[in-house]
Parts: sequence; structure tokens; C-alpha cells
Amino acid sequence: MLHQVSDEGGGILVFTNQKPTMTVHDHVRFVRQMDAYCSSLGHGEGIELSVAKPAYPDAPEVLEIVREADAAVTFGENWHSDHSFHERTCSFSVLRGVEVPTCGINDTLFSSTADAFDALSPTMQELLLDLRVYHSANRAYGSGHAGNSFAAMKKTKTMELRDDLEIVKHDVLHPLVVAHPTTGRKTLFASPTFSTRIDGMHDEESKAILKIVYEQIAKPEFCTRVSWRPNQVVMWDNRLLAHKGLADDVSQRRVMHRVSLRGSWPKNHRGVSFARDHKVTAAAAGLF
Ligand code: SIN
Repeated sequence: MLHQVSDEGGGILVFTNQKPTMTVHDHVRFVRQMDAYCSSLGHGEGIELSVAKPAYPDAPEVLEIVREADAAVTFGENWHSDHSFHERTCSFSVLRGVEVPTCGINDTLFSSTADAFDALSPTMQELLLDLRVYHSANRAYGSGHAGNSFAAMKKTKTMELRDDLEIVKHDVLHPLVVAHPTTGRKTLFASPTFSTRIDGMHDEESKAILKIVYEQIAKPEFCTRVSWRPNQVVMWDNRLLAHKGLADDVSQRRVMHRVSLRGSWPKNHRGVSFARDHKVTAAAAGLF
């Protein structure tokens, strides 16, 4: 199944009609089983805790993503790959709809960052291949910005940042084009949610290149839109896809549970990763 979701099935698996009695513990158990399978292939890395204080103290692995009705900002509303601000970024995420929207609105949108890379001109691919980009948790979870995920959390009654959040203090460097660890496919690994700047470029140069990358990822031909139904669970490969939680009707409350597996250090086409050795003081909190 993991092989299929990652390498053959486009990176997304939708499990419909799960038991209505599914609990947070069942959710964690499922992800732990995936981790055990990954371990048997030499890729098991454990569950990565989220930036939020656990909503369920006996299941701290579960991130509860809430948008209260009529809240203007939404957690995870723009393109990103989960936990790309860590040295070791997320491999698989498993999202369960808890309070799901009316079918067809407030969906989750995925984009194949591998297909997006493949469709660039050979000259643009060549230009991007050896670039490196900083990713910052502070961009999304730092205070002082009205439109980021931290601002969205403050609009909920329950979501709160952890107190021990060292990760917001430093930005990490990743390849802009990451080779998928099992297939070797080249993927665009930058996002308006977490990326701040391309290493070694003037700000306006970096902005211009990142704009091209973000526009490429957002093109409809690379996107898959997953609508939510009750008792549905969705699993995806963050190393092959960017995603965003749509907010096309904010009048409804929406609640999701996410559990994410830690992956490895993103490597470029030469097999080189940079995150261990290249950290800088966090950039200011920002809007996507
Ligand atoms: C996420 O960013 O992982 C959540 C996506 C969603 O809420 O649809």
C-alpha cells in the first residue's frame, strides 16, 4: 500500500467509509503500522509532533486542525509540504475528517510537485536544480502577522502553540529541487507557507524565481482535489505533493485530525542534503 501511494498511485490514498467509531488512538495506531512498514524498508523515522499543544493529552501525536465558523483565516490555507521547516521533513501525513464540510467545499487540494517540475522547460529545470531555499516555521507560526497559521490558531478556541517551540527560532536550508527518496523523481520543494528566500540571491531575484515555482505548483493540470465525506481518511506523500486546505466557504466549522511521519533529510539530485549544517536565525513571520 505504501509503495502504491508513494510510487505508483500519484501519492494520495483516500479511504472512504471508515468506521464511525474510529478514535484518535486508532488513527495513531494506523500511522504507527505504516511506520513499522517503513522501518522494514529502512525508512521508518517515527511520528513527528506538531507545533500545536496536543488536543488529546493521551494522543499527543494527533494535531487537531480547527476552523471555527466565520473565522477569516485558516490553518494550512496555502501550499506547503508538512514540516518542511524541520531538518528531517515529513514523509507521509494521514488526515481524518472529524467535522467535515458539505461535500465539495473546503476540500484539500494537492499538487504533484514532480509533475510540476517535469513540465518546466529544460533550461528552467537546469537553472533550479542546484538552488537551495530556506524554510522557516516562524513564517507560519511566528506572531505579528494577521494572515499566517498562528493567526488562524488564535481564532480557534482550542489550538495553541507549544511552549517549547525551538523550531521557530531557526530556518533550515533544503534543496529547491529534491529527489524523491524512493523513486528519484525530481520535485519542486518550496512553498509560500514556509520558504523565505533562495540562498545566495538578491531578494528581488529570489522572489522572482519563487513566484515562478509557486505558480507552477498551483497550475490546475498538476492538482487533485479531494472532497471530504464523513468517515474519510486521506493519506499522502509530502515528498511528492504540496497541499493546502481550501477555505471557499468559511461559514462552516471544520475539524481535521492529522498525524505525520518524520522522513529523512531532503537530498538534491546529487544526493546532497544541507539542513544539518545550514541554519540561520529565523526570518520574520510572514504572509504566504
Ligand atoms: C494540512 O495542512 O495538513 C491540512 C489540510 C487541510 O486542512 O485540508
